[in-house]
Amino acid sequence: MSSEPIRILTVCLGNICRSPTAEAAIVEAAASAGLDVVVDSAGTGAWHVGEAPDRRMTAAAAEMGLTLDGAARQFDPSDFDRFDLIVAMDHRNHGDLLDLAPDDEAAGKVKMFRSYDPDAIDLDVPDPYYGGEQGFRDVVTMVRAAAQGLIASLR
Ligand code: 4NP
Repeated sequence: MSSEPIRILTVCLGNICRSPTAEAAIVEAAASAGLDVVVDSAGTGAWHVGEAPDRRMTAAAAEMGLTLDGAARQFDPSDFDRFDLIVAMDHRNHGDLLDLAPDDEAAGKVKMFRSYDPDAIDLDVPDPYYGGEQGFRDVVTMVRAAAQGLIASLR
């Protein structure tokens, strides 16, 4: 008997750095676990809608073997119906999503992404946008660890 794949949405502020990388990392972890998932990403803000992932983020991810694609979009409250699990990259994103949640069922779908990494002490994936190259590499490392944990939690 086949069951419907779980639908996961990753959310950050701009949808050009952290959440597209988290999306790719979840796809990667699911593929290596042989698990069928549907993954998308969105931003709470609208500044970068329609743009490809940030060039610096794409380069850091590519260096580490992860391909980013897609175009930025803004989170829409209809996403609460379209996804089973909505993972926030930091506490600000988490709070913004909870403010948009129409009811307890929707709010219950919102988790901190790094809460799936048993080794994470700080649950934020820091915003790399205004920082240097290492910040982008750190994002890749953090989201890969969280993606592994998330996929393990589904098995
Ligand atoms: P992201 O990074 O939320 O990881 O996509 C950012 C991208 C753009 C901005 C902030 C964070 N911005 O202020 O334009």
